[in-house]
Amino acid sequence: MFVPSIIIKKKRGEELSKEEIDFLIQGYTNNTIPDYQMSSLLMAICLKGMSEKETAYLCQAMINSGEVVDLSNIEGLKVDKHSTGGVGDKTSLVLGPMVASLGGKVAKLSGRGLGHTGGTLDKLESIPGFNINLSIAEFKEAVRKVGLAIIGQTSELDPADKKLYALRDVTGTVDCIPLIATSIMSKKLSTGTDCILLDVKYGSGAFFEDINDSIELAKCMVKIGKNMNKDTKAIISNMNQPLGNAIGNSLEVIEAINTLHGNGPKDLVDLVVNAGSIMLVQAKIYDDINKAKIDLEKSLKDGSAFNKFVEFVKQQGGDISYILDPSKFPKAKYTIEVLSKKEGYVEKINTIGIGQASLYLGAGRAKKEDSIDYSAGIIVNKKPGDHVNEGELLATLYTNKEDTNYIIDEVINDFVIVNNKTNKLNVIDEVIG
Ligand code: URA
Repeated sequence: MFVPSIIIKKKRGEELSKEEIDFLIQGYTNNTIPDYQMSSLLMAICLKGMSEKETAYLCQAMINSGEVVDLSNIEGLKVDKHSTGGVGDKTSLVLGPMVASLGGKVAKLSGRGLGHTGGTLDKLESIPGFNINLSIAEFKEAVRKVGLAIIGQTSELDPADKKLYALRDVTGTVDCIPLIATSIMSKKLSTGTDCILLDVKYGSGAFFEDINDSIELAKCMVKIGKNMNKDTKAIISNMNQPLGNAIGNSLEVIEAINTLHGNGPKDLVDLVVNAGSIMLVQAKIYDDINKAKIDLEKSLKDGSAFNKFVEFVKQQGGDISYILDPSKFPKAKYTIEVLSKKEGYVEKINTIGIGQASLYLGAGRAKKEDSIDYSAGIIVNKKPGDHVNEGELLATLYTNKEDTNYIIDEVINDFVIVNNKTNKLNVIDEVIG
């Protein structure tokens, strides 16, 4: 097969065959198709879309690029959740230990930062020693022993997504329903989990601003999961504000630790309690969702979720002294306060702007090979519905970069402040599946 002809076919909006999709994914995974051809194809897919059939072929080809983990000899139904990506989204770091502390078995394949959104793997790697590259045998052992393991795509597990994900991050090809759906579902289906909960975000900090696009994405993923006989559900959650207050890798780990100690921001706690209760019912550990919510809330108060997090970090080689004493995380050289220029109420936050500002401060990558500054990021002090005085703190920026004055102005402009009282935002709008 001739790669340029397949790219042209997609550019014209024609449907690719299973053989063509298999050929592309195999060739890209084993390095016979270069990045520049795959980038061009990805852009054509973004512009012309994919049919339901092509999406299913692509997902299967990505799963086939590696192995599928057999978790059947671990007792109970295995359950996983995956977010489509947001700003300040440290949900997995809190939700995983909470669900595992109540008997859930969470086997998770996560991603790195993508576009303006952060990634669970980068956050975990901000904990010194934390190993996201477990072998399949080590992964299974961690799920069996701790009830929670989080790793990245490897040469054994969904290697196609590992390469495509990194390429999409730097080629403007992230916000595309079939590419997001296949990236997420190929990861979920490679880990051999039985139940999948998708956290599909919409709003100014998500890949789709319009809730209807996010619902379409959710339905596409739920369909892929159900066709593979997995119990798949989706929540549609609001990303018109950063989740919690911290954005940036170690800043988010610290916020996750505070949340596991029972001191979390309300929106994050609402999300993890609601998502966790659905997962525990999917895993058939609870049949009453309200009882599951009560026990999840309790796990944040009685230390059991925090203890599970410590166990999880230790199992994957992380230095738990940082978890026991978060003041040990390295601090950025510069701390810059962003103050409000007027009095009023926060109506909106341009959340993508906050995510991008965090990347410029050092928390993300502009090129595939860039390294991340784990200490960089932003703490947001005001959210929609909050009152703010002139001169009051809107946000604090953390960076090791010089010359970041232009970011201060951008962050100020990301807060829309009005005279009339405004409302707090809901976290979850809908459940699908
Ligand atoms: N999360 C993923 O794993 N992949 C995407 O494409 C977007 C979010």
